[in-house]
Amino acid sequence: MEISRLLLDWYDKNRRVFPFRGISDPYRIWISEIMLQQTRTGTAAPYWERFVSAFPDVKKLADAAEEDVLRYWAGLGYYSRARNLHRAAQIICRDFGGSFPVDYEAIRSLPGIGDYTAAAIASIAFDVPIPAMDGNLYRIFARLADEHGSIDRPATRTKLRETAEKAMPLKRCGDFNQALMDLGAGICIAGIPSCEQCPLRMECMSEKKGTAAELPVRDIKKAPSERRFAVVIATEGNTIALFRRDEKLLKNMWVYLLLENAGEAELYTAFSGCTEIGSVGRARHVFTHQIWEMEIWHVKVPEGWECDTLAGCRWCTPEEQERLPMPAAMRAAKEAAAKILEYDHASVKKPLSSMAQSV
Ligand code: ADE
Repeated sequence: MEISRLLLDWYDKNRRVFPFRGISDPYRIWISEIMLQQTRTGTAAPYWERFVSAFPDVKKLADAAEEDVLRYWAGLGYYSRARNLHRAAQIICRDFGGSFPVDYEAIRSLPGIGDYTAAAIASIAFDVPIPAMDGNLYRIFARLADEHGSIDRPATRTKLRETAEKAMPLKRCGDFNQALMDLGAGICIAGIPSCEQCPLRMECMSEKKGTAAELPVRDIKKAPSERRFAVVIATEGNTIALFRRDEKLLKNMWVYLLLENAGEAELYTAFSGCTEIGSVGRARHVFTHQIWEMEIWHVKVPEGWECDTLAGCRWCTPEEQERLPMPAAMRAAKEAAAKILEYDHASVKKPLSSMAQSV
């Protein structure tokens, strides 16, 4: 039997029930799809109900104060979604006479709407036959076709999108997309799928070959690179040497002196003439693509002493340091600096002007 027929029959008996389902108002469908971009269905549902009660149509949303829109969004996160909704509502009033656009390209042109969301809205609200290709649908179609090309590659994605387009029914396109979403959420899940419950198992090539659990294939993510640093808290009297970073990672943030791959010997060379050099701790910070292994050192610099290693630094009192944006990677070193200078950095009051600087 055809995939769409099997899927729609299954959906009629097994669909998940949400307040934003079974409605035809494109405005309300739009709000739900924006919420569901980064929020789970169960979490989004009560927010959606409150939001559409407060702003029941495009005009009410367009005329609302942004602050009120954000208030109804509070708790959902990713606030640019709410700002884009507000802006898009104003565009719909200005350019589309207040009616939600029907055409896929027009929907796609609104702020906050990408290919996936435009397809979801157009298919659910207007029965437009475009598959809403997200990770769930790529996984399902990779399994159905026993596709072993990586779904991170554009060529594989195009191939799977074309397969999905061919599988689209002539009618009930929105239900077809939502049936795939439900299948991906509960049965054709990542890892080990529940093929025995799947309405499409008779049509699934990977189920026949026993390869479903291996699919979809993804590009191997590069392991984050490990870097080693000596983090040097150089103090002169009551001041600490800080540097503004110019590198892409943590650009414009303030850090202690960072010497990559430097150990004790390099530090003694760089600070020859300083009598007090000592290790005060270790720290590790994980970024998305890098891991920093840090040994924290304290170097007491004699007054008026000049050295190339500290060229370009800014000597800061603890209060001045508190006003500069410092990254989380420096937290352990900052705590060590507070002990060294015997101040409690948590209790140093941040003046309001420093808030604007923090990143
Ligand atoms: N995720 C995004 N849109 C959805 C919808 N309409 N139903 C279920 N899950 C979704």
